[in-house]
Amino acid sequence: MKQNANELLELIFSYVTKIASIHEPDKLLVEVAKMGRDIVNADRCSVWMLDSDTNTLWTKVAHGVDFLRIPADSGIVGDVIAKAEAKIINDVYADPHFNRSVDEETGYKTETMMVLPIHNSLDKVVGAMQVINKKERGGFTQEDLQHLLLASTYVAESIESSLLLEEIDATQRELVYIMGVTGESRSKETGNHVKRVAEYSRLLAELYGLSDKECNVLKDASPMHDLGKIAIPDAVLNKPGRFNEEERRIMDTHAELGYNILKGSERTLLKAAAIVAYQHHEKYNGTGYPNQLKGEAIHIYGRITAIADVFDALGSDRVYKKAWDDEKIFKLFREEQGEHFDPKLVDLFFENLEQFLTIRETFKDTYDG
Ligand code: C2E
Ligand code: SIN
Ligand code: SIN
Ligand code: FE
Ligand code: FE
Repeated sequence: MKQNANELLELIFSYVTKIASIHEPDKLLVEVAKMGRDIVNADRCSVWMLDSDTNTLWTKVAHGVDFLRIPADSGIVGDVIAKAEAKIINDVYADPHFNRSVDEETGYKTETMMVLPIHNSLDKVVGAMQVINKKERGGFTQEDLQHLLLASTYVAESIESSLLLEEIDATQRELVYIMGVTGESRSKETGNHVKRVAEYSRLLAELYGLSDKECNVLKDASPMHDLGKIAIPDAVLNKPGRFNEEERRIMDTHAELGYNILKGSERTLLKAAAIVAYQHHEKYNGTGYPNQLKGEAIHIYGRITAIADVFDALGSDRVYKKAWDDEKIFKLFREEQGEHFDPKLVDLFFENLEQFLTIRETFKDTYDG
């Protein structure tokens, strides 16, 4: 089935429009691969991206959950990327670069192949498109190559920016996590405290009905709730006993301190972290700190982190107290329903108690000796 120029352009533009609206790299690469396959009428197409940190090529397999990763210099794809030169091979088994092990493993017979490099805006080769098994006799043609080249120049920019965005996102998540752990470690709490609070918060967010995106944002932001503790003097933070009034007053500033560190950012994640730091000690009945916010005036992120944090704090040893047993914790949760805590969240907590206990077990603290 041969496409005429108009049909081809239509095909390219319908894909380009779709691709421009996708921001997650893995979904995007799957869509680019479908485009490549349809444009040249191939049986399969893979989009390989070069990861220069690990010197590997990776691809997202359509319908599969996994990424495939191979050494950057392997196979025909590796050769095309190294030489920055497209290649048509209509008898792959005769090509010295062809790696038969993939066929042998998958049982798929590769007969014809065309691979072309993908360039970024600086004209650096960042990956390759590989189409396999032309559906018509005779294999891939120079015309196919021109068509795929045309399409790939349209999508290269989308691929590049989605990868950049992901890089920034990952960097942000990592930094936030490190800052959360740093805040906790000064107060001699373990890194697992921040993991548990993150997981409890995510679960509560999900049960409450927040969107997937918000659940993930809160999961990544909630470990920052105590960031402000990094500015609390050691003598207060790690006092081995109960606070006096002055110590209490100093400690209470950690909520606003954390907020002040984070509030300047425009990033979604840091904005959420700022809310959590500011509001995680507000109480539903309006008697919390620092602003005595009441009810739903407290952001849902703050109401959720409050429960996650207290549930974890009560069940853990601290320099100033021993861990409570579960009966005592549950009794306090009942008493504080509608007082300290959002009543709806307490219901969700008890209705799904098993899941919370599973998280606690999965990320439990381990002591050496
Ligand atoms: P944290 O230890 O992570 O505790 C977080 C929250 O869990 C507390 O917020 C409180 O709402 C709850 N919580 C923890 N332990 C107990 C407890 O034994 N009884 C009750 N009823 N609730 C408890 P809060 O009170 O605003 O404290 C914030 C942070 O201040 C605590 O974080 C901890 O780092 C520190 N802190 C509070 N009181 C003392 C104290 O008497 N001595 C020391 N050394 N630190 C304290
Ligand atoms: C490989 O299987 O090593 C990469 C794909 C190819 O041979 O072109
Ligand atoms: C594939 O099965 O899609 C890849 C085959 C190859 O790279 O040789
Ligand atoms: Fe706190
Ligand atoms: Fe905490």
